[in-house]
Amino acid sequence: MYSTMKVTFYGQSCLTVETAGKTLLFDPFIRENELAKHIDVDQIQADYILITHGHFDHVADAPELAKRTGALVISTPEVCAWLEKQGVEKTQGMGQGGSVTLDFGRVKMVAAIHGSRLPDGSPGGFPVGFVVDTAEGSFYHAGDTALTMDMQLIGQSSRLKWAALPVGDFYTMGVDDAIRAADFIGCQRILGIHYDTFPPIRLNREEARQRFTAAGKDLILIGIGASLDL
Ligand code: NI
Ligand code: MN
Repeated sequence: MYSTMKVTFYGQSCLTVETAGKTLLFDPFIRENELAKHIDVDQIQADYILITHGHFDHVADAPELAKRTGALVISTPEVCAWLEKQGVEKTQGMGQGGSVTLDFGRVKMVAAIHGSRLPDGSPGGFPVGFVVDTAEGSFYHAGDTALTMDMQLIGQSSRLKWAALPVGDFYTMGVDDAIRAADFIGCQRILGIHYDTFPPIRLNREEARQRFTAAGKDLILIGIGASLDL
């Protein structure tokens, strides 16, 4: 039987994935996102919160959401320590290359090329991405990253249904490198993230979609607060 994961986009790199009866929340940054003012943060549920790095546009709402939902936070030990200082109790600090099996499936922390300084100025450790395997399929959230040859390793070891890749350029990969990344990871269905939030990363959606289409790939761009089944 063909089953899908419900993905809801909350702007920048924040999304929830509902799979195997659990909700995974990535990189919560909503209250301070001018484009996400219509989102009711109090309604967001999570069983797990996965954080790719310490930049404010990936962690700003993590302390509040972790405490309210009681979700287990998975990130680097440095990001977890920052959360613990703010009263978050359930954290699991991992290292790049490591994986953990949880009740919905398996999470592997993979490499990213970027920075990771936390809002208080403390170092966030290495930035990361996540490959998640569940009974409903596998997906990859790249976090903030440059195109890297290491992405070929993901393509060699996982059969991805879809992947969330940054496409906004300037702070991360842009469209052309995201297309190459899609080749490296062997995935044709790309959910675009990390665009429009700030002036340097405004995206020409039509042009971006056309470039993906010309490369035989599908760039999915959905509105903030919208959901789709992947
Ligand atoms: Ni960043
Ligand atoms: Mn970012």
